[in-house]
Amino acid sequence: MNVSIITVFPELYEPFLSVSLIKRAQEKGLIGIDVQSFFSLVPPKKRIDAATFGPGSGMLIRPEVVQDAVERQEKAHGKAFKIFFSPQGEPLNQRLLAKIAVQAQHAGHVMLFPARYEGMDARVEQEYADMIVSVGDFVLMGGDIPAMMLLEGFLRLIPGIVGKEESVHEESFTGPFTDYPEYTEPVEWKNRLVPDIVRSGNHAAIADWRMHQAARTSVRKHFSWMRSHAMTKKQQDCAASYMPRHYVALVHGDVLIGGERGVGTTSVTSIDLHDIARSCATYGVKEFFVVTPLLDQKRIVKKLLDFWCSDNGIMYNKSRHRAVKLVTVQDTIEQTIAAIEQQEGVAPLVIATSAVTGLVHAPLITFYDQVTAWQLDRPVLLVFGTGQGLRPEFLCQCDFQLLPIEGFSDFNHLSVRSAVAVVLDRWLGINSKDGGNQGE
Ligand SMILES: C[S@@+](CC[C@H](N)C(=O)[O-])C[C@H]1O[C@@H](n2cnc3c(N)ncnc32)[C@H](O)[C@@H]1O
Repeated sequence: MNVSIITVFPELYEPFLSVSLIKRAQEKGLIGIDVQSFFSLVPPKKRIDAATFGPGSGMLIRPEVVQDAVERQEKAHGKAFKIFFSPQGEPLNQRLLAKIAVQAQHAGHVMLFPARYEGMDARVEQEYADMIVSVGDFVLMGGDIPAMMLLEGFLRLIPGIVGKEESVHEESFTGPFTDYPEYTEPVEWKNRLVPDIVRSGNHAAIADWRMHQAARTSVRKHFSWMRSHAMTKKQQDCAASYMPRHYVALVHGDVLIGGERGVGTTSVTSIDLHDIARSCATYGVKEFFVVTPLLDQKRIVKKLLDFWCSDNGIMYNKSRHRAVKLVTVQDTIEQTIAAIEQQEGVAPLVIATSAVTGLVHAPLITFYDQVTAWQLDRPVLLVFGTGQGLRPEFLCQCDFQLLPIEGFSDFNHLSVRSAVAVVLDRWLGINSKDGGNQGE
């Protein structure tokens, strides 16, 4: 396979390409790397760059220079898979590297175009780019470090370049989990011991321990990656065991009801009860508390639950009882919190929800912050209000207030059951980019 790199600074690549596995891969003839300077493509004294049109200063690499590079390198090494670099490109991750490795082997020739200055004339990417890659949401001075990252990342996936090929497929981000901790000698260092299990010689036990360690780190530190990746049932169960238990409360008593009365108690509705219970069952919530102090309302809840759990109810709908069994009625939110504390032996982290934008009563938490909350090692109670929402006095006492759900409109009056579904999905949901989960 040939790799052409067209750069303003070819000298940057000399040390990089003359060490370690990349050096060896070239020596073994697995890859040929041809680094060319943009300046070699223009006659002496001719510029490779020109000023951008329109207001704003900055220089761009001229399109004909890139054209010359493409024509020259493709003549020498065949048609290439062409990769440009830009902060606006596709984020580089293991998934993209795997795609690049496949394309590179298929094409047999990869061209990398690390830019400098303000980048390239936009028409160049439109004309030539098979892929535009970003190494992160930040701006570097040039694309050479991104090009080196990409090389290090995809070359290790080309058979023969890394000695122990199986290790390539067992490392962080090749599956849903990051890597597990690894140890070497000495067995004791600064009073820290290598875990007995990894020295036990019991390969099955070591594999199990490693999977648990990897799952724990992935849940606690790389949840977004993990949930974007297809998992086996075993991996999913293992990951779930490291997520704190979640509870949902739907508060009917002491909520804002508007008008002159201000605060009051709303009625339970059968549709909220079912639908929220079903969302809770889907997202692995341990218990769904319906909070109302009113006896007649409690009776209605009981009647509904009794029906779905009765023979007639189960005959009518086989799975509904699994969801409604999660429902427990409590008089007040304080009793709900106390009940969870009693079950868990530790008070839950209380996260309140509100549809009101711009009014924050407790520390704000976003839908990206579940990992921060989980690191506190406490069960989580997500509290939803009915009527016109939870009272500010209650919100002030919560550990966190979750950012309101919003779309690109000025309307965010969701039904509470829709809000619960959205919050649970954003907070706990699996969101695979690789197709569905993978059986056992
Ligand atoms: C100063 S940057 C140009 C930034 C560009 N004007 C923008 O704001 O999107 C110059 C070059 O560095 C490279 N570069 C900078 N940051 C990058 C990143 N995060 N990922 C990939 N390439 C990057 C690209 O080749 C880019 O064209």
